[in-house]
Amino acid sequence: MTPVVDFLTAKATKTEAALEHYFHTWNEVPDTLREAMRYSMFAGGKRLRPALALGACEIVSGDDSAALPAACALEMIHTYSLIHDDLPAMDNDDLRRGKPTSHRVFGEAMAILAGDGLLTMAFDVAAQSGNAAVVAEIARAAGVEGMVGGQVIDMESEGKRLSVNDLKHLHRKKTGALIRVAVRSGAMLGGAGESALRALTAYGEHIGLAFQIADDVLDVTGTEEALGKPIGSDEAREKSTYPAAVGLEEARALARESVESAISALAPFGSEADSFRSLARYIVDRDR
Ligand code: IPE
Ligand code: IPE
Ligand code: MG
Ligand code: MG
Ligand code: MG
Repeated sequence: MTPVVDFLTAKATKTEAALEHYFHTWNEVPDTLREAMRYSMFAGGKRLRPALALGACEIVSGDDSAALPAACALEMIHTYSLIHDDLPAMDNDDLRRGKPTSHRVFGEAMAILAGDGLLTMAFDVAAQSGNAAVVAEIARAAGVEGMVGGQVIDMESEGKRLSVNDLKHLHRKKTGALIRVAVRSGAMLGGAGESALRALTAYGEHIGLAFQIADDVLDVTGTEEALGKPIGSDEAREKSTYPAAVGLEEARALARESVESAISALAPFGSEADSFRSLARYIVDRDR
């Protein structure tokens, strides 16, 4: 395995053990709800946001354990957002990570409630970090000025051709905010000083953008086929994506540019940040 895959695997293993622990502390959960929450929570996600929180904490303090509650909370919020994103009222997707979506398995009402459960309990978990400023930042990033707001802008721009600047604004909220706060919360919980926090925040912003462009590129070049949608289908075209706005090659160039900016932002750090340097490259390379 390459070092970056080792890094992601190590952080995912730690996150999953902690998530299991949290799930076991909730005793009076209706069986179906627990099953639906677990189905999406343990479905083979990359655990990118936890890896960013844990990694940032490790870079500034040499140890990642202080960031574990925040890492788990962020992955719970991410998972809820995907369950709701796939609902018939939103993207109406039947498959997620190659498996039937929550509402296809458990029905729409239970999928909505599984998402509600994950989002709500995420804040119980985040609070266990003992850092109210971090909990508040997570709420703001996930909420109406962040991810939820971004989902609304995404929905309202369907069928429109957005400029690259409008796309950046959309993605800063829709995906970027949660990625940014993952890095920031890890750094804050690791006791980062002002300049380290600033550098890591810039890193988070740049990889957030790179990540969304790569995700859009993957929609065109890879997973669409796996999802059973023909490449270039109407369903794909009506979404506001980078390849739709600037073409595939330009989108890839933009992603690479963001990766270089992310790596430049890590200049104040030495070899302790090598995991984050490789991670930045990995984010765009996974599209081929
Ligand atoms: C996919 O996110 C959806 C977006 C927010 C763009 P990820 O690619 O991180 O999803 P998983 O959790 O690894 O499947
Ligand atoms: C999902 O965006 C973003 C959130 C859930 C916040 P997309 O709708 O583009 O992601 P995929 O393509 O379903 O993974
Ligand atoms: Mg969507
Ligand atoms: Mg979607
Ligand atoms: Mg997408």
